[in-house]
Amino acid sequence: MCPVRTQVAIVGAGPSGLLLSQLLAARGVESVVVEHRSAEHVAARIRAGVLEQATVDLLVEAGVGDRLKREAGEHHGIYLKWPDGKHLVDFVELTGRSTVVYGQSQLQRDLVEAAALRGQEIHHCVSATALHDLDTDRPAVTFTDASGRGRRLQADVVVGCDGSFGPSRDTVPVDVRIRWEKDCPNSWLGILADVAPSTDHVLYAWHPEGFAMHSMRSPAVSRLYLQVPRGTRVEDWSDDRIWDALSRRLGSGQDGFHLSSGPINDKSVLPMRSLVQTPMRHGRLFLAGDAAHILPPTGAKGLNLALADVALLAPALADLVRGDTRRADDYSDRALRRVWRSTHFAWWMTNMLHPTGDPFEDELQLSQLRWVASSRAASTGLAENFAGYPLEV
Ligand code: FAD
Ligand code: DHB
Repeated sequence: MCPVRTQVAIVGAGPSGLLLSQLLAARGVESVVVEHRSAEHVAARIRAGVLEQATVDLLVEAGVGDRLKREAGEHHGIYLKWPDGKHLVDFVELTGRSTVVYGQSQLQRDLVEAAALRGQEIHHCVSATALHDLDTDRPAVTFTDASGRGRRLQADVVVGCDGSFGPSRDTVPVDVRIRWEKDCPNSWLGILADVAPSTDHVLYAWHPEGFAMHSMRSPAVSRLYLQVPRGTRVEDWSDDRIWDALSRRLGSGQDGFHLSSGPINDKSVLPMRSLVQTPMRHGRLFLAGDAAHILPPTGAKGLNLALADVALLAPALADLVRGDTRRADDYSDRALRRVWRSTHFAWWMTNMLHPTGDPFEDELQLSQLRWVASSRAASTGLAENFAGYPLEV
């Protein structure tokens, strides 16, 4: 076993792990990142796409926002659509804040480039990642590196940024953690297509057949989603079947809206669920991002929340490694306030927009959509949550 010493051992080189290493480096704190996938695999994953204004400000301040500022499309709001109505919820008018559409893979590329520039140590393609001695002040991470060599990373602090499927969350003993979980009967089938977006803002559509959403990545690339039953296999959805369902559900041909189709170059199914694990700290282990909380994607909170966690955590860890534990002691409680707000919002948006097949519930959803569209108070509530709250760091 070859030992290495660092101040902060970070498990996971997704957006939360890489941004954390960047924010720590800016505070003079050394970290090592371990990631079980290859850099190419992580960069190619097509996932989220909407960033809140506070997230954009955070990335710019961290020095990883240059390309984002140049290339990201600014969005003043979202459309809500249902069979006999359509409404633009104008975030700027209602809250003074906007959002941008910038794919997670683009952000991942920016974070990887920044890490390379500062010489960040990242071990890709590791296996058998395990966390040790978390309730001592000498925690460690062991793993097998890409060449098959056993390694031990000795640190002051370990941070689990290892997403929905990583080992960190489970290493918190069952008698000290609470896991809050809510399953959803639906998944989203997401596609990326080489076709100009047919909408100027992200469009969320309720349809009796199921929810559909139209987002974008660039003037030539569209990102679209369909509600499908949990357990749906990608192979069961041909390209034609996908475009037909999208056309019907998004109301192509109605009110001047026409959906253009094009070659699909990525298709995946995302199961929807809510999970929050509390507390987000155990001894010298801190959890951030999807390792601590998973949200249904409606409302685009997952990535924003992951980055908000590390914005709070970086200064707390910088204090901790220098002997001041106060901010680290508050981390979990402070982070969880935002986590529960986002969890509620994602659950609320999901329940408003995904028909269940129960006619009574369908009527309630439609009534709620019409209310959100017609009441300034209700649409301001949606806009405040969607455009996001300022980061308290
Ligand atoms: P991740 O991005 O998951 O990064 C965790 C990293 O840890 C990964 O690179 C993983 O390979 C690594 N890791 C895991 N196990 C180990 C291990 N044992 N050892 C070392 N490394 C490990 N949000 C939306 O808002 N809209 C969407 O459309 C959307 N689509 C999504 C689709 C999918 C398939 C998934 C999983 C998530 C999606 N999300 C979406 C959520 C959003 O992408 C996440 O909230 C965001 O990626 C969280 O960042 P993170 O860094 O916390 O976790
Ligand atoms: C996107 C994803 C979301 O989950 C969402 O609510 C809005 C947009 C996207 O991938 O662009």
